[in-house]
Amino acid sequence: MGIPALSIVIPTRDERENVPRLLGALRAALGAVDYELVFVDDSTDGTDGVLADAARADARVSAYHRDRGNGLAGAVVEGIGRSRGATIGVLDADLQHPPEIMPVMLRRMEEAGADLVVASRYLPGAGRPGLGPWRALVSQGTRLLAWVMLGAARRSSDPLSGCFLVRRGVVEGVTLRPVGFKILLEILARGRYERLAEVPYVFVERGAGQTKAGVRQGLALFRHIATLVADNPSDARLWKFLLVGASGVAVNMATFWVMLRPLASPVLPSGVVAGLVSTFTNFVLNNAFTWAERRERSAAVFLRRMGKYYVATGFGYLVYLGLLWGFVHLGLPPL
Ligand code: GDD
Ligand code: MN
Repeated sequence: MGIPALSIVIPTRDERENVPRLLGALRAALGAVDYELVFVDDSTDGTDGVLADAARADARVSAYHRDRGNGLAGAVVEGIGRSRGATIGVLDADLQHPPEIMPVMLRRMEEAGADLVVASRYLPGAGRPGLGPWRALVSQGTRLLAWVMLGAARRSSDPLSGCFLVRRGVVEGVTLRPVGFKILLEILARGRYERLAEVPYVFVERGAGQTKAGVRQGLALFRHIATLVADNPSDARLWKFLLVGASGVAVNMATFWVMLRPLASPVLPSGVVAGLVSTFTNFVLNNAFTWAERRERSAAVFLRRMGKYYVATGFGYLVYLGLLWGFVHLGLPPL
């Protein structure tokens, strides 16, 4: 058999009753498409037997059973490694992702010349009745969190979707470190793609069985996001910058107190010195930590940049000194 145009990777864990229905629906939906189905199974309910039968009956189906799985995202990564198509699709086995979305995504990929097509629950015409009120809330909250923390997540309306299409080149040679459930997030953050397109879909109720998502998967998502932030300098930068800013407040207050109390200086000169000192520590820390990979080693450039930093932050300090003066005249304690 030649190399298929499309490989659909399908993770399964205890989906015995859904697999036959899924196979029927996929065959009907894909029609003339040249495809293969790659199942990666971590079940203990006999799904592996159903899959083995399907693989024997149909050369387009292959199934891999694992006795010690590493979760949904890990299963998808394994399936990608075992697949051969130039385009790779990922689909849940429980029919919550309508199989008919696959040809729609393929068409969208061609039309848009996209490297990555995300099936989104958050576009006009989409929906998520299969989530239930509590999960719907969690889904909105975690989506927002992913957007805030990760620049790559902001490229998609549904970065936590489990249904997407990707050209092989996007993930080939890329080390994916799957954690938990959210393999798309991993690919968005680490994959090599330029154009991203989306199609709406309705996330419906499960066929049979129950979800494997729970508190453990939620915690895994937090760990996953933290890892991706730490691994990406531009996502980590905001947090480092805020941390340095907070340290500057501590330095500023401590200096102000030393000037005011032990050294008994007047309020405004104390404020000026505190500002000069904390601006200095902020600059040095941002240079060495926040922008560590662009750290300046030449003294001349370092000093010129520090000068600019003093000018830029100086306007803020003028406001600060004005307020300090005002508050003290209102009779408030300077600290
Ligand atoms: N191999 C393997 N190993 N498959 C797993 C595992 C595992 O440990 N855990 C779950 N799966 C399979 C399920 O059998 C199903 O086919 C698919 O992964 C999704 O699992 P569900 O338990 O049904 O998750 P969900 O419906 O709550 O959430 C899914 O859909 C969301 C919407 O697209 C996940 O794919 C989410 O990541 C996704 O956001
Ligand atoms: Mn599901």
